[in-house]
Amino acid sequence: MSADRFEKLKAIAAEAVSISELFKLESNRMDNFVLREGPLRADFSKQAMSEHAKDQLLYLAADCQVEHWRQRFFDGEKINTTEDRAVLHMALRGVGGDEAVRKQVKEMRQKLRAFAEKIRDDGKFKAIVHVGIGGSDLGPRLIADGLAASTKSPFELRFAENVDGASINDALAGLNPKSTLVIVVSKSFTTQETRMNAEAARDWLEKALGKKAGANFIAVTANRRGAESFGVAGDQIFDFWDWVGGRYSVWSAVGLSLQIAFGPDAFDQFLSGAAAMDQHFRDASLGENLPVMMALTGIWNRNVLGYTSVAVIPYARRLRKLSAFLQQLEMESNGKSKTRDGQDTGLTCPIIWGDEGTNGQHAFFQWLHQGTPGAPVDFVAVLKDHEERPAHHNALLANCFAQSEALMIGKPEYVVRDEMIAAGYSQSDMDKLAPQKTFPGNRPSTIITLDELSPFALGHLIALYEHKVFVQGVIWGVNSFDQWGVELGKVLAKSILAEMDGAKGEHDKSTAALIELLSAKSA
Ligand code: F6P
Repeated sequence: MSADRFEKLKAIAAEAVSISELFKLESNRMDNFVLREGPLRADFSKQAMSEHAKDQLLYLAADCQVEHWRQRFFDGEKINTTEDRAVLHMALRGVGGDEAVRKQVKEMRQKLRAFAEKIRDDGKFKAIVHVGIGGSDLGPRLIADGLAASTKSPFELRFAENVDGASINDALAGLNPKSTLVIVVSKSFTTQETRMNAEAARDWLEKALGKKAGANFIAVTANRRGAESFGVAGDQIFDFWDWVGGRYSVWSAVGLSLQIAFGPDAFDQFLSGAAAMDQHFRDASLGENLPVMMALTGIWNRNVLGYTSVAVIPYARRLRKLSAFLQQLEMESNGKSKTRDGQDTGLTCPIIWGDEGTNGQHAFFQWLHQGTPGAPVDFVAVLKDHEERPAHHNALLANCFAQSEALMIGKPEYVVRDEMIAAGYSQSDMDKLAPQKTFPGNRPSTIITLDELSPFALGHLIALYEHKVFVQGVIWGVNSFDQWGVELGKVLAKSILAEMDGAKGEHDKSTAALIELLSAKSA
């Protein structure tokens, strides 16, 4: 990040007025800070950012060559340099990619559609158990909930991700193996959790179906050989490719369970929604560009104002897994401390966290309003009532809008005291309570609204966040498409597991005592 520009931004922040004041000073604030694209509207006006700050952030984006990197991304260059790979998940939704890639994608989409239709038509299967973890789980899980707003699935769709036996046990509980389709999703087909859960599911099928079990077992992977040596028949395997990152893979065959459960048409609309956001990201100028604006807002909050986290609060039950999904998308992509060329970075990705509204209001909103330092919030709301409960829906949205307003306006102590005087409080009670009832305000938030929770809008929303992550990665100078930080723990877990079976290993005293504890228990 350019040091000069950063100093300028810091200076602007030091002289900043409150967000409420900005509304008074900037008569065009709503025009300048609200962007709409298709079914999605994003209101950044309640960010603690002036128009001047926004302009400087746009210069920062130019300094960091965001447009150049965007072009390289759309051109399919190998921007995942540490793994020497192109990053082509947009090609899965029909944007970019060379002729060979487009052909691969087209053929795979036809194959997936035909398979999904066959399963939907022949009625043999009643349940789908999707086995996978991380990018092979979080996207499908989130989107399964989201698609349910507009389409009813005739299947019982369950997920098993954790290596904790409870995960696969719960997923299989009460199902009939004969009418259950197990879909194992793993890009690498080496992931410990997925392989163990896949083995458990296969045993469960084989116990009931014997040699016929294979017909109920599908693999989705970029490692066909790995799946075959696991015992999956070649024609039961659906491929994807190394140019699809795990956390960007829901658009690929990884979404097979969704295509079966909700139908290939709904899935195609989901892809189209993402493609429309890709086109917007590619074509809109930086100042009018939703992902760019989201990214710059995040940079402002993280690098200039110093916030350490971002809360993502969907006021939509069917998006309740959004923060979990974004934890992987954002933190695995940009949770880095070295630049692409191995230098130390400045501050990069904040902690992403959150839960659905209104539930969060009865848990962590106390901290958001009065805790230190609080966190910027992304509120996500859906304008259409999909549940035919208009009173509930209005209450849900009223809460969402109120929280965003409350975070911004706060409640100064003099207002609290005026209210307490009017309510007849004694002076001593007032002195005791007034500071507690005061809200500092000036806490930033963005409100993203979707006209409806259609498959198209879902695709739009997820692609928006993907591109935001891309832009932030460019500004922070990191490779957003590798994840070396997950490796060390995996390696140690493997050797500790072997030691539980008697192998020798060396550890610090704390870890050695823990291994000993388990060995003593199982002896
Ligand atoms: O542990 C990290 C990770 O490699 C993620 O990047 C990935 O989404 C997840 O594991 C699952 O990997 P796979 O799809 O290869 O099983």
